[in-house]
Amino acid sequence: MKTFQFHNPTKLLFGKGMLSKIKEEIPAYGKRVLVVYGGGSIKRSGLYDQVMVHLKEIGAFVAELSGVEPNPRLTTVNKGIALIKENNLDFILAVGGGSVIDCAKAIAAGSRYDGDVWDIVTGKASASSAMPIGTVLTLAATGSEMNGNSVITNWETNSKRAFNSIHVYPRFSILDPELTYTVPLDQTIYGIVDIMSHVFEQYFHASSNAPLQERIGEAILQSVIVTAPKLVKDLHNYENRETMMLNGTLALNGITAMGVQADWATHDIEHAVSAVHDIPHGGGLAILFPRWMEHVAGSKPYKIAQLGVRVFKLDPTGKSDSLLAMETITSLKQFWSSIGAPTSLSYYEIDHKEIELMADRAMVAPTIGSYVPLNKEDVKSILQRSL
Ligand code: NZQ
Ligand code: ZN
Repeated sequence: MKTFQFHNPTKLLFGKGMLSKIKEEIPAYGKRVLVVYGGGSIKRSGLYDQVMVHLKEIGAFVAELSGVEPNPRLTTVNKGIALIKENNLDFILAVGGGSVIDCAKAIAAGSRYDGDVWDIVTGKASASSAMPIGTVLTLAATGSEMNGNSVITNWETNSKRAFNSIHVYPRFSILDPELTYTVPLDQTIYGIVDIMSHVFEQYFHASSNAPLQERIGEAILQSVIVTAPKLVKDLHNYENRETMMLNGTLALNGITAMGVQADWATHDIEHAVSAVHDIPHGGGLAILFPRWMEHVAGSKPYKIAQLGVRVFKLDPTGKSDSLLAMETITSLKQFWSSIGAPTSLSYYEIDHKEIELMADRAMVAPTIGSYVPLNKEDVKSILQRSL
């Protein structure tokens, strides 16, 4: 393992009815609140009204930023920063999925930074502080509710970039599985794929001796694999929504990344596809991850074989790692197809025309990934396979 520090300051408030806890949590930070939300799902579900009732009960002044896009835009982040400054606000409450939470994090960092917030997103500057934020999670997928990541799209330049800062971890996150009942089937599937992909990115690390981290990752994957087929058949099942919500949080809250150099190349590639074509993140990952595995299996089949034996229960008797790796990839494709995930970029009407641009945008460093570092030609090859 590498040396590491681990500090996750987010307080989780998990379970039915936990929304009312915002009345206890928010006043510690002040009562001038920016409520950030998406395109209307929280109004349709009634969650917006419940949040407003609780904020009224504590006498909060409320400003609102609505319409945060899936794949949230820099322009929306800037609107939020302007609202903070105009209204002299103390606290940001994000009510939604990963896009809303990520937008709130960028607003939180950007409102304490004199320059252009895009500098923070691209890593040109680092956040030295941020406004406090809390979240009410409505979609199990990204883990943003318990991490310091934010992913923002600059649509003018077709760049989707991620930053990470200790300052933007939510101070608290409300995780009530009932708030995810209204997530439609397609977004539920994308969430499942994203959760599994987060485990993969950290499982395929370039470090040695991380047996516990790998076993934790395998446990999360097994929990997802058992739960997902039941969940997609019954979107209102509390136990399955509850299990998936915790899967999502633990898949990207740092525990399986302790001491390892995680990969993240597939996420870099997917972010580039989304930046050019505005597709759902989990949909892109469902297409790209098996192709990334095929690409790296030639030089490093061992870990993919291990995944297949331990998680997909393949029989290793008499088989080489290369053969087992191929069987693992087939098992993964079959599993994702069985729950309804897309299998090729043509599903989103993406063809070869933008491969050069997408590969260019994926190269956020001279090589990406660490399990097998990829250059631009590798990325183009993975995109080509994914058409
Ligand atoms: O906008 P509204 O109306 O709220 O609708 C959303 C949106 O259309 C809808 N939705 C959310 N909760 C709902 C609901 N609809 C009905 N009922 C509910 N309870 O679902 C749609 C997608 O929402 P979004 O927030 O975009 O989904 P997700 O949580 O998958 O977030 C995706 C974004 O997070 C980034 C992705 O790149 C993408 O931009 N990621 C963030 C990460 C992080 N911060 O750690 C890591 C991830 O790898 C990922 O990159
Ligand atoms: Zn992801």
